[in-house]
Amino acid sequence: MNAPHHEFVVVGRVSDVPRGGARAFAVGNYDVAVFNVNGELYALENCCPHQGSPIADGQLEANMVTCPWHAWRFDVRTGKMTLGDFAFIPRFAVHIDGDLLALSKEPLV
Ligand code: FES
Repeated sequence: MNAPHHEFVVVGRVSDVPRGGARAFAVGNYDVAVFNVNGELYALENCCPHQGSPIADGQLEANMVTCPWHAWRFDVRTGKMTLGDFAFIPRFAVHIDGDLLALSKEPLV
């Protein structure tokens, strides 16, 4: 997808997101989960498409997060689930400036 013109908002610091973990940030009316996979940050809406769990509380293994409620699994790089293609989590763009972490104001989809 080619979407060059995102508006970003600074939400916190890169160092707020532990390696191998996740942290949720407010972006306007959105709650956004940011995952740290080996130092690369990926952002998804913090809402599992099954029943709305905070996916930031899930278990992160490499690039896969397992929902804390019913164990649906998603690739945090794409928001795609592993069980099938009937559900996905919207992505947000990540912009890093030094230790400042900014997220797009709107999801990418
Ligand atoms: S709410 Fe995520 S699997 Fe059910």
